[in-house]
Amino acid sequence: MKLQKIYDGFAETYDQNRGLFDMTEVFESFYGCLDVKTGNLLDLGCGAGEPFARLFVDRGWTVTGVDFSQRMLELASKYVPEMKTIHADMRQVEFEPNQFDAIIATYSLFHIPSNEHATLFEKLYSWLRPNGKALFTYATKEYTGSVEFDGYINFMGQDLYYSHTSPEKLYSILQSIGFQIESTNYRNIGDETFLWVTVSPKG
Ligand SMILES: C[S@@+](CC[C@H](N)C(=O)[O-])C[C@H]1O[C@@H](n2cnc3c(N)ncnc32)[C@H](O)[C@@H]1O
Repeated sequence: MKLQKIYDGFAETYDQNRGLFDMTEVFESFYGCLDVKTGNLLDLGCGAGEPFARLFVDRGWTVTGVDFSQRMLELASKYVPEMKTIHADMRQVEFEPNQFDAIIATYSLFHIPSNEHATLFEKLYSWLRPNGKALFTYATKEYTGSVEFDGYINFMGQDLYYSHTSPEKLYSILQSIGFQIESTNYRNIGDETFLWVTVSPKG
């Protein structure tokens, strides 16, 4: 089944499990390093908009969420009605340069083939304002069991596509685009370990 349809099917479960994991520390550590306290946020693979889009909206931010699952966006319109949503594949959307003070892609980028990550990161680089920052979750061997991975892992009874290269290659790609790496943290949340990366355009 296509990932998009799988996430449509997951929407109910997501709805039932909302608020299960406390992301306050993740949010506060990213929010705390932003240069502006209100601004424009882009959330790629926003899902139901919780917790991150909601937390930014609550702090006065203007939030644009992109997701290719219609059902997840329906939930988002319930929980974060203030968010502008775009029903699209994040690889297809286009924005004017220097539009966003912050960009997040939490638990979503690992569904994009790793050989397409550089193109997507180049777009993020152009969409961010010079003092902006981006936060994303990256899969590593701690989740998939391989240093580089391109395949399927069963999640909640469905085979989901995941893809990643090694952290070292990821950092090299980011730096060659012009990002500086602000922080990298392996976080275990809900018994799943992912790498959380914060980057900003080099000054
Ligand atoms: C695990 S959920 C994460 C949702 C939310 N970001 C969070 O942190 O809870 C992954 C989301 O990414 C979306 N997604 C995955 N690949 C996508 C793509 N290529 N374009 C747009 N959305 C995508 C899915 O539809 C799903 O809503």
